[in-house]
Amino acid sequence: MTVEAFDTVDVIAAKRDGQALSKEQIDWVIDAYTRGVVAEEQMAALAMAIFINDMEPVEIANWTQAMIASGERMDFSSLTRPTSDKHSTGGVGDKITLPLAPLVAVFDVAVPQLSGRGLGHTGGTLDKLESIPGWQAGLSNAAIVDQLEDIGAVICAAGTGLASADKKLYALRDTTSTVDCIPLIASSIMSKKIAEGTSGLVLDVKVGSGAFMKDLRKARTLAQTMVDLGQAAGVNTSALLTDMSTPLGLTVGNALEVRESVEVLAGGGPADVVDLTVALAEEMLRLAGKTDVDVRAALSDGRAMDVWKRMIRAQNGDPEAPLPVAEHTEVVTATESGVLTKLDALSVGVASWRLGAGRARKEDPVQDVAGIELHAKPGDSVTAGQPLMTLHTATPERFSRAIASLDDAVEIGGDAASVPESIVFEKIT
Ligand code: URA
Repeated sequence: MTVEAFDTVDVIAAKRDGQALSKEQIDWVIDAYTRGVVAEEQMAALAMAIFINDMEPVEIANWTQAMIASGERMDFSSLTRPTSDKHSTGGVGDKITLPLAPLVAVFDVAVPQLSGRGLGHTGGTLDKLESIPGWQAGLSNAAIVDQLEDIGAVICAAGTGLASADKKLYALRDTTSTVDCIPLIASSIMSKKIAEGTSGLVLDVKVGSGAFMKDLRKARTLAQTMVDLGQAAGVNTSALLTDMSTPLGLTVGNALEVRESVEVLAGGGPADVVDLTVALAEEMLRLAGKTDVDVRAALSDGRAMDVWKRMIRAQNGDPEAPLPVAEHTEVVTATESGVLTKLDALSVGVASWRLGAGRARKEDPVQDVAGIELHAKPGDSVTAGQPLMTLHTATPERFSRAIASLDDAVEIGGDAASVPESIVFEKIT
């Protein structure tokens, strides 16, 4: 019988009483949780104690390292080009990974985007790409490395082996109201990214109603915590704080977002999506040592589109095939004339989710066709009766609940809207 180094209740009590946990305690508790020795209810109590009493920087670093040690590490050292990755803390209409990965690859920097599926109101990159006929999310580690060497970009499902403890802990946090906690979010995200083995990493930390972090101060703390963890682990890391008070672009939902991403890759698309894609690409390239590059030109001259098509084909997708379209649509119109002063990201995200674009439980299917097209954004003038949004779904019985969640989403006023000058608020290095 294994003699355990600590008693779980002592570790929980220490955190409950506001003490810092030692490296030995942290290494043990993560390992014992992964082995099933620390029970779910005990980890739930510890997560809540961390939520309430916070963690010191050294504890967060040790917690992250223990999570990394709970799973496998990937190795991109055989590649002939540097790697640079991006991680978004999640938002509404956030399709940026789709144009970004092929765009960065144009400049001979490899982009390993090991992605996830959506849960709740934020969409998942894999769900979006799966609306492309034939496209496969699952790749072996060897196939990921081959595709990175050959094409320079891969967007695929993160294997179950990276930071194994996080899988259990994230599911537990989801059911115990302990997700929204800076030390736990930072260690969860960074353990996976450090284990992935990228040499550069740009964090897109979202701020606003559609994001985890509703205010700039908390977003800044989260960003700095993650940047420090990355740097300490030898990953060249920086963060952009970006606006998520309103959806990104003019589409929310899986196939709709792919369509808009392809517009960006064809040199068009909404300005906010293009601006954020370019800002993140420039930052990823800077971290890989490439500063003298014209990123916008690679969107307008078709080079990024060429990489996109090769990347989709490499995973059995047909980039030329028509995307699925919803059979049922319903239009929401402006109730008065004036300037659109608010189009709330969270409400639109929830509405899209209710139309079938997202899932409530991990095992639920999603609809490719469901989502929302926006016809106006904050700052635009609208007239009463003008279409503001078109809702799409395969199951029209969902319209009423989706429309209910849009009740407070829209504000139309007489004055100019306070629209941020730039989608990027700050950079943290
Ligand atoms: N994304 C993660 O991977 N983990 C968190 O805790 C929050 C967002």
